[in-house]
Order: sequence, then structure tokens, then C-alpha cells
Amino acid sequence: MKRALALLVTTVFTASTTLSASVVAEEQAMMVAAGEQIFEKCTACHSKDSSKNAFGPSLIGVVGRKAGSMPRYAYSDALKQSNIVWTEANLRKWVAGNDLYVPGTRMRHVEIKDKAEQDYLIAFLGSLGQ
Ligand code: HEC
Repeated sequence: MKRALALLVTTVFTASTTLSASVVAEEQAMMVAAGEQIFEKCTACHSKDSSKNAFGPSLIGVVGRKAGSMPRYAYSDALKQSNIVWTEANLRKWVAGNDLYVPGTRMRHVEIKDKAEQDYLIAFLGSLGQ
């Protein structure tokens, strides 16, 4: 009886950890999808499905990248000399008011201040890979 109970507990425990892992994956996928919607505000200038620079630089692999470092893209001096690395925190500051964060940038003003929207957008940018 004790053994059967132990087995039951183990089974339930295993099932619930598997379930929570898939819930996390599902949540991540939902965040990426929501971020893709918000990224519509950016696609006029940033390409999302290729590593090509458009009017704006390619954002493939932007999370963790040094600002102004895509080859063959003519950045503003302001961004090139900013010494920013695109961490999550810095991307938040950038999308909340890029021209206030880096005065002199060539990117038109964007203003996404909602923390959840920033979360989604960053999840989407992270999914763009290298
Ligand atoms: C009107 C065109 C335009 C729009 C819209 C736009 N960008 Fe940009 N973006 C640019 C340009 C131009 C640059 C280069 C800025 C510079 O050199 O100062 C840039 C640079 C960037 C960079 C820095 C990349 C690097 O390699 O250092 C990030 C990150 C970025 N944009 C994110 C976004 C996001 C996210 C959005 C949407 C919320 C957005 N941009 C909307 C034109 C745009």
C-alpha cells in the first residue's frame, strides 16, 4: 500500500513537472507571437525574415550584440560611438524612447513604454536568432 502510494506520488509529480515545462514553452511561444504583432511597428524599416539590412539594420541576433556593429550598414555616429550592448534592459530603454536614450540616432522616435509589450517584443527579437 505504501509502495503504491509512493508510486502514485511519483507519477503525479512527474506528470506535473512535464506539464509545467510545456506550459512554459507554450507561454514563450505566445509571447513571441504577441511580440511579432508589435514588431509590425518596426517592419517598415527592419527586415524580420532575412539577415539583410533594410532602411534600418538587420535585427537578427540583436539581443546581446554591440550597438552599431552590423557590417555594411551606415549607422549614425551617435549609435556607433554609444558603446551600448543590446541587453534586455538596454533594448527596453531603446524602444521606450530611442532618441532620448541615444540623442542623434537616425532611427525615428519610437515609444513603447508598456512593460508587457516590451517583454513580448524582446521575446520576439530573441527568437530571431543569429
Ligand atoms: C522609420 C524607420 C525605423 C523604424 C520604424 C524602426 N527603426 Fe530601428 N532603426 C532604424 C535605423 C535607421 C537604425 C539605425 C540608427 C542609427 O544608426 O542611429 C535603427 C536601429 C535600431 C536598433 C539598433 C541596431 C544595431 O545594430 O545597433 C534596434 C535594436 C532597433 N532599431 C529596433 C527597432 C524596433 C524594436 C523598432 C520597432 C518598435 C524599430 N527599431 C523601428 C530605423 C527604424
